Amino acid sequence: MKIDAFNPQFGSIARTSGMAPFAEQFDSHLTEIISALKDTGFVHFQGAGIDQQEFELLTEKLTVSDAAISPALHGSKARDVFSRKPELGMHAEQYYLPWRPDLIAFHCERPADHNGRTLVCDGIRFLSELSMPTLELFREQPLSYNLRFSRKRWKWTFNVKNGRQLKKLLNAPGVRYRFSLSRALHFNYTVSAIQQTRFQQADAFVNAIVHALDYPGYGLRLANGMPISAEVEKELREIAARTSVAIPWQAGDFAIIDNSRVLHGREAYTDPNRMLRAKHGLINFEVGSPDC
Ligand SMILES: [Fe+2]
Repeated sequence: MKIDAFNPQFGSIARTSGMAPFAEQFDSHLTEIISALKDTGFVHFQGAGIDQQEFELLTEKLTVSDAAISPALHGSKARDVFSRKPELGMHAEQYYLPWRPDLIAFHCERPADHNGRTLVCDGIRFLSELSMPTLELFREQPLSYNLRFSRKRWKWTFNVKNGRQLKKLLNAPGVRYRFSLSRALHFNYTVSAIQQTRFQQADAFVNAIVHALDYPGYGLRLANGMPISAEVEKELREIAARTSVAIPWQAGDFAIIDNSRVLHGREAYTDPNRMLRAKHGLINFEVGSPDC
């Protein structure tokens, strides 16, 4: 296996070399793969040629998906992400909740015939591209997500059986909530748009703003109650478009992404046969590498 820079500042691309089966090459280069992930934000395994079962096995070498550690990750078994076809705005996964996956893995079973590529951008660079007024705004004003979950939906989303379990779970930093008479949950989460990356401890613009602005259900506001202005929204969309790179999927490829540093999104597509699956996980330090 040969690991090169995806582009000079961001990302890695790993290609097989020689005749050894892919899983063997992955195992023998695990330390380098983890280093590339830590240093560059993501690794695209081009030409891996793996199926769903191999994807599960290989990603388990880097992650665990334990609901007891992070309850909102109960859906972290690979799930198919082919049902929504419009463009998907740049976001870090689950940053509208206090529980996030460390890593996201994507497996491309079949790319779209046209567009539909996964887009990624570096939250460290994104932060450096913000204008001074916008940077000051997000340093001063945290974000406030305001979501409503029906009773059925909060049970599923938070993987709990009853209100008592939910209340215990919601005792988390930044969370406020109330229940309506119908037992719907009104959930408020206050969090900075600027977060530290896991491996560099660098400030990065890592959040779900651009995606959340497309979906009123996130109830995104600034913590002072004001909406994100049209001017700021325009600036964020412009930076996202300018700094994003597309992963050039081939069937059988996969990629692993540091969710504490990298925002991801997707181009619009129309091909009903596109098949990409996503898996969320927590870093498995013990198994992944003793020094990571
Ligand atoms: Fe996502």
